[in-house]
Order: sequence, then structure tokens, then C-alpha cells
Amino acid sequence: MALQQFVCSFTLVIIFLCKECGSKPGNSSSIITGQDATPGSWPSYAAIVIVGFQFGGSLINDQWVLTAASFIPLDTLTEWVPTVYLGGYNLSGSNPNQVNRTVENIICHPEFDFTTLENNICLLKLSAPVNFTDYIQPIYLPSENSTFNNECSSWIIGLVYNSDGTFTKTLQEAKVPIVENNECKGIFQGSYPKITENMICAGDNDSCLFTYGAPLMTKRKSVWLQSGVLSVSACGAFPSVFTRVSPYQKWISDTVTGTAPKFFTFTSPDNSTSPTTM
Ligand SMILES: *[C@@H]1O[C@H](CO)[C@@H](O)[C@H](O)[C@H]1NC(C)=O
Ligand SMILES: *[C@@H]1O[C@H](CO)[C@@H](O)[C@H](O)[C@H]1NC(C)=O
Ligand SMILES: *[C@@H]1O[C@H](CO)[C@@H](O)[C@H](O)[C@H]1NC(C)=O
Ligand SMILES: *[C@@H]1O[C@H](CO)[C@@H](O)[C@H](O)[C@H]1NC(C)=O
Ligand SMILES: *[C@@H]1O[C@H](CO)[C@@H](O)[C@H](O)[C@H]1NC(C)=O
Ligand SMILES: *[C@@H]1O[C@H](CO)[C@@H](O)[C@H](O)[C@H]1NC(C)=O
Ligand SMILES: *[C@@H]1O[C@H](CO)[C@@H](O)[C@H](O)[C@H]1NC(C)=O
Repeated sequence: MALQQFVCSFTLVIIFLCKECGSKPGNSSSIITGQDATPGSWPSYAAIVIVGFQFGGSLINDQWVLTAASFIPLDTLTEWVPTVYLGGYNLSGSNPNQVNRTVENIICHPEFDFTTLENNICLLKLSAPVNFTDYIQPIYLPSENSTFNNECSSWIIGLVYNSDGTFTKTLQEAKVPIVENNECKGIFQGSYPKITENMICAGDNDSCLFTYGAPLMTKRKSVWLQSGVLSVSACGAFPSVFTRVSPYQKWISDTVTGTAPKFFTFTSPDNSTSPTTM
């Protein structure tokens, strides 16, 4: 059962991309990829590898990674313990700043529902803390009253799944527009999944392939904050669906041990924010 779920998730590693928000890409007729991310530009990115399959996550303090629940093996087969890579993930082999960890504990949301993808969020406790470097830094999270409206300032990162069945060799990045929830509900009406307040949609017509669990991020001043966790990727007229992070502030705070993750309220348009450290 767990294997089926796992493989099923894997075959759906698809997401929308929009290289230049709002504008159409010049020439692409097939898969539109993101662009290579400069090493060190996304220091919170966590590459999660489970029996060779690639997923995404993000570091939220020195020992915890936030990701999706839908691809996490539900049984305890030891060979499926994820390996988490921080500080860069270059499949071509050069990873001078990389640190790896196994996972000591997996805590997915107790009300995660695989059929609706409600509460598709999971926390991984690394086998040991990591030291922060220029290449390894935690990301900030939005507190529960945050709002992300129609806007064009969000980024997704991850490895892109190529049409030949391989992943891109290095981390890709792309700017995507947020699709406001009521609009997204309309787009998904009668389709899967049913969009709820615990989800956030992003992407447009320009589709591509990314890694499940990977972060959707917005910049506030010099700080990056994670608004979503990739839950459902889509192609064509549908945006991708992310688990909205802000409703889970309390669950995340209650679950994570050690240094508390940093939360702040993000409102969109972003001119009324006040940082709070919780
Ligand atoms: C589209 O591709 C053709 C052939 O590769 C190239 O000559 C042209 O400049 C491209 N156009 C754009 C807008 O990128
Ligand atoms: C990945 O590693 C290869 C081989 O060392 C190197 O040529 C390339 O520049 C690296 N790319 C990134 C984005 O780190
Ligand atoms: C993890 O990092 C250590 C030290 O750099 C390295 O020896 C080991 O091969 C790495 N393990 C994996 C699974 O990449
Ligand atoms: C983290 O930094 C401390 C202090 O510099 C050092 O003692 C420790 O070995 C480092 N840990 C790792 C895993 O690099
Ligand atoms: C969110 O807003 C409600 C109503 O304004 C308020 O009562 C609550 O304290 C806020 N929560 C946080 C975490 O700021
Ligand atoms: C997708 O592109 C088509 C053709 O350019 C356009 O008619 C349609 O409105 C677009 N859909 C969305 C959701 O942007
Ligand atoms: C904040 O945004 C609103 C709506 O866009 C705008 O009317 C207002 O002038 C902005 N305030 C500041 C201080 O920038």
C-alpha cells in the first residue's frame, strides 16, 4: 500500500512554472523548465531522497525540515528512511557545501487525509542538528493571519523532472503568480483536489515539473518566507496546489523541538508587516 502510494506520488511530479510572471515564454512547445539556481541562493532548500526518488523540503530550524506528507512512506521499512541533503544538491557531483543527515523522527499532521490531501504537511527531525553556513539557513514561516493574494512575487524551487524520466542535475528556480483561493476553487470546481482554506494555489499556463514537498516562497525585505508546500502539481489550465503553511503555525510550533522556528505575519500587498519571533 505504501509503495503504491509512493510510486503514484512519484509519477505525478509536475508543477507549473512561469519564468517571467505574466509574460509568455518565447519558444517552448513542450516542457518549460526553470533556470539553474546559483549555488547558495536557496540555503533553506532540503533535498529529500527516499530509495532514489527525489522530493523537496525546507529547513526551519537547525534540526527540522518541513515537507509534504503524501510521499512519506507510511510503514517503517528501514530502507525507506529518507536521506536529507542541505547546502546544495548537484547531481553532477560537485557539492562542496553539502551536509547530509538521516531522519530520526517523522511527524506528519495527524489529520492528513490522502484522499483529499487536506493537511498534507509533515515534519522530519534530522538525525543531528546542522550548523548554519552561507549555504545552510532556516527559512521563515508565515504566522496564521498571513494573507497571500493575487500577486506575482513568489518563487518555487526544486529539481525538474525531465521527459526522459531523469531529474535535472541541479536545483531549478522559477517565479510564479499566486492564484487567489476563490479563483482557484473555481478552476478546480469538480476536479481533484477540492481547494480549501488550508491550500494555496500558484502557477499559470506555463507548466513544468518539480519536486513534491518543495517550498513556495515569497520575499519580504531581505527575508524569505515559505507560504506553501507542494502538494498537487498540475499541467495545462490548472495551477499547482500547495499546502498553505500559515494555518499550521500552532501545529508546527508545538511539534518542533529545539530552537523555535521564526514566524511573522505577511500581508499582501506587503506594506503592513510587523516581524514577530515566536
Ligand atoms: C526560438 O527558437 C528559434 C530556433 O531555436 C530561435 O532562432 C529564436 O530566436 C527563438 N525565439 C525566441 C523568442 O526565443
Ligand atoms: C554542478 O557540478 C558540476 C560538476 O562539478 C559543475 O560543473 C557545475 O557548475 C555545478 N553546478 C551547480 C549549479 O552547482
Ligand atoms: C553524507 O556525508 C558524508 C560526509 O561528507 C559522506 O561520507 C557520506 O557518503 C554522505 N552520505 C550520503 C548518503 O550521501
Ligand atoms: C558545528 O560547529 C561547532 C562549533 O564550531 C563545531 O564544534 C561542530 O563540530 C560543528 N558541527 C558540525 C556537524 O559540523
Ligand atoms: C489572528 O487574528 C485574530 C483576529 O484578529 C487574533 O485574535 C489572533 O490573535 C491572531 N493570531 C495571531 C497568531 O496573530
Ligand atoms: C491559458 O492560455 C490560453 C491560451 O493562451 C488562454 O486562453 C487561457 O485563458 C489561459 N488560462 C489561464 C488560466 O491563464
Ligand atoms: C499599502 O498598500 C495600500 C494598498 O495597496 C496603499 O493604498 C497604501 O498606500 C500602502 N501604504 C504604504 C505605507 O505603503
